[in-house]
Amino acid sequence: MNDFHRFLTDLPKAELHLHLEGSLEPELMFKLAQRNHITLPFDSVEAIRAAYQFSNLQDFLDIYYQGANVLQTEQDFYDLTWAYLERCAAQNVKHVEPFFDPQTHTDRGISFDTVVNGISRALADGQTKLGISSYLIMCFLRHLPEAAAFDTLQQALPYKDKIIAVGLDSSEKGHPPHDFQGVFEAAIQQGFLTVAHAGEEGPPEYIKEALDLLQVKRIDHGVRCVEDPALVERLIQIQTPLTVCPLSNIKLCVFKDMRDHNILHLLDKGVKVTINSDDPAYFGGYMTENFIAVADALHMSKAQAIELAQNSFEASFLPPSEKKTWVAKLKAMH
Ligand code: ADE
Ligand code: ZN
Repeated sequence: MNDFHRFLTDLPKAELHLHLEGSLEPELMFKLAQRNHITLPFDSVEAIRAAYQFSNLQDFLDIYYQGANVLQTEQDFYDLTWAYLERCAAQNVKHVEPFFDPQTHTDRGISFDTVVNGISRALADGQTKLGISSYLIMCFLRHLPEAAAFDTLQQALPYKDKIIAVGLDSSEKGHPPHDFQGVFEAAIQQGFLTVAHAGEEGPPEYIKEALDLLQVKRIDHGVRCVEDPALVERLIQIQTPLTVCPLSNIKLCVFKDMRDHNILHLLDKGVKVTINSDDPAYFGGYMTENFIAVADALHMSKAQAIELAQNSFEASFLPPSEKKTWVAKLKAMH
């Protein structure tokens, strides 16, 4: 690790695009499979890692949903979340707003409260034991009908104090945001904030629909915005953040090579981009590894690194006073 890599590790950061199910490392997958008497279709941790070669989002999702089957009890969800928070602590990630996919679990008979209680208990311990603040976001699976999302929203109502926002994830192509306008409107009425995956594999039109119809506070991914210059201008003007996930984009072949990635181009143009890890157990790295991969391939400057970290707090759902404190700390690092 060189001096700049050390600097990137030590930089205080917020992570705004992380699927808890995507932080399930093969070692924990094996441990939970044993604990819950589940047989995995792999003989070893190495065999699992070797299977993580994807040519697109769907390739990955098929394996990711299979991996999530080992999560059964409240303690499993606690352990999953806690392992992620320990990684955050080691990389000076100070605030997190992770996603979870309730339908992946409720559809296999795991109750909503098992999932939320396990995750929430770990997040509370993350605050008290590791000093990491957090808000939780629940995502609707867009490959399932909107009616199923409505049902999930209903189940979430008793947990409003534990869930700040709703999101939209899973297979993007062929599942446009407008299919979910009704359930997002209902969620907003219930007091939830909104975010959505758009413009990862899907076209710029999906980003516009997420902004106009789902009233999102952030776009998850959004890198295909560059195909529509007027949309890029709009994003600069409205400063709606993009939660970009560089290693994910390479693993899922959104860009062929990190040298082709557009994140620093968007940053320099004035789009509020942030760096995130998406599904770190599957894509080869957490926050610091993502910063390092971008730094090495695209010659990120110290000023750009600080701006990206600043953006991560500014794009968060933290109250303005806390955002200000983090931004002041980061400005002092120039
Ligand atoms: N679920 C987990 N990771 C995802 C991604 N990168 N895109 C869409 N859905 C996801
Ligand atoms: Zn994602």
